[in-house]
Amino acid sequence: MSTPSPYRPGFATQPPLLAGRQHLLQLVETAVRTSGNRRQSFQVLYGPRGVGKTVLLDRYAAIAMERKWAVVRHEARSPGDPIGAIVEQLHDCTGLTKKMSRELVELRERWGEESQTLNLGVYRRESKRERRDAIPIAQQFASAVLAVAEHCTKDRRGLMILVDEVQEVHPDELSVFGPIMQDLSRRPGLTAMIVFGGLPDTPGLVTDAVTYGERMAFHPIDNLDNDATLQALAGPADSAGRPFDGDALTVLADATGGYPYFVQLFGDYAWQASDGHARITLDDANRAIDLARHDSERGLYVARWKKLPAGEQTYLTAMARISTSIPVRTGQIADALGKPITALSAVRNRLLDRGIIVAPSTGHVAASIPGFLDYVLTVTEPPKPTERTSPSKKPTSTSPSSKPRHPGRTT
Ligand SMILES: Nc1ncnc2c1ncn2[C@@H]1O[C@H](COP(=O)(O)OP(=O)(O)OP(=O)(O)O)[C@@H](O)[C@H]1O
Ligand SMILES: [Mg+2]
Repeated sequence: MSTPSPYRPGFATQPPLLAGRQHLLQLVETAVRTSGNRRQSFQVLYGPRGVGKTVLLDRYAAIAMERKWAVVRHEARSPGDPIGAIVEQLHDCTGLTKKMSRELVELRERWGEESQTLNLGVYRRESKRERRDAIPIAQQFASAVLAVAEHCTKDRRGLMILVDEVQEVHPDELSVFGPIMQDLSRRPGLTAMIVFGGLPDTPGLVTDAVTYGERMAFHPIDNLDNDATLQALAGPADSAGRPFDGDALTVLADATGGYPYFVQLFGDYAWQASDGHARITLDDANRAIDLARHDSERGLYVARWKKLPAGEQTYLTAMARISTSIPVRTGQIADALGKPITALSAVRNRLLDRGIIVAPSTGHVAASIPGFLDYVLTVTEPPKPTERTSPSKKPTSTSPSSKPRHPGRTT
């Protein structure tokens, strides 16, 4: 019988080995142990899709729960009612007094009524006056959070609030976190953490909507560096009793480009390809790379490409024609399209905000996931028989020196 794969390709699935995030986990360990370090108590984790924001938030929750903290974990959707959902979860925290429970139930009801009148995103966005009306209930929400934090602190515990996909939260709703963070800062004795996870445009959204937002700690979540990639691939295979040969590991790590989702996907294919062997060989790794790329071409790449408007596709095509493997100068893309750089900054920013590209250094852009620009060429240009091989056979696009490791906007 074949041994089940130890890898976990997918989204929001805990990897068998969470590599390269020790410094962040350490910060949280410290923050839950010591009250008063407010900067690391309010964090924003941001980065492109598939880099591991959700699994990190889950680890944060696990660290807090180990210390018996009350944990409120919400994944925002649009349209949705994040505040209502958070109030419901606060109500479910263990050990609350009857009075607190009653107040949270009342708040939930009031919020429900309020959000029915306010929850028309377009109407709310257009009407600044509604925002003023929403403030008293926002203050009630802040008092409720503070009361629960106070209660947990007295109990020698703490309160952690995690909001994932925070870019989906309406700015009016996001703004209610401002007074909460301000109040918590004034009371350093209270143990509480607030952490947001979101796409690369999240820092701007948070600082615009939340009064206290700019004082949060912003942590970009990047692709894994080479050591972490090797660890994330080798560790699970070793533990499951079928280690990699050295050359197989190097080639596979290189092909993933350190993109965490690919680490799990390519690892999984390598595991399947080596079924029945004692070790994972170079031959297994190469077969896995072909299969994983084929899988991505049909799934991940096509899904991302199809969602993009024509202007963004044109930008990416120009970028791919210059290089599919190393960061490209934004000036070169502008030249190729015959436009000034400034005329392309809006389209470039949208691609950065969506997490399709990253800006590894000033004036340069690169694809956030390896192999994507090779795919762009295959769909935008007819294959020329002698000129280039299919990306599924071409590992050069993901050499470690060329990987984008620093998502974020530096230009
Ligand atoms: N540090 C890591 N080491 C190894 N694998 C990881 C790591 N972080 C995430 N992964 C794997 O990457 C995949 C994507 O993780 P996750 O769903 O948390 O990404 P995300 O950033 O939240 O994506 P999205 O923006 O689409 O929600 C999962 O298969 C997960 O197991
Ligand atoms: Mg996620």
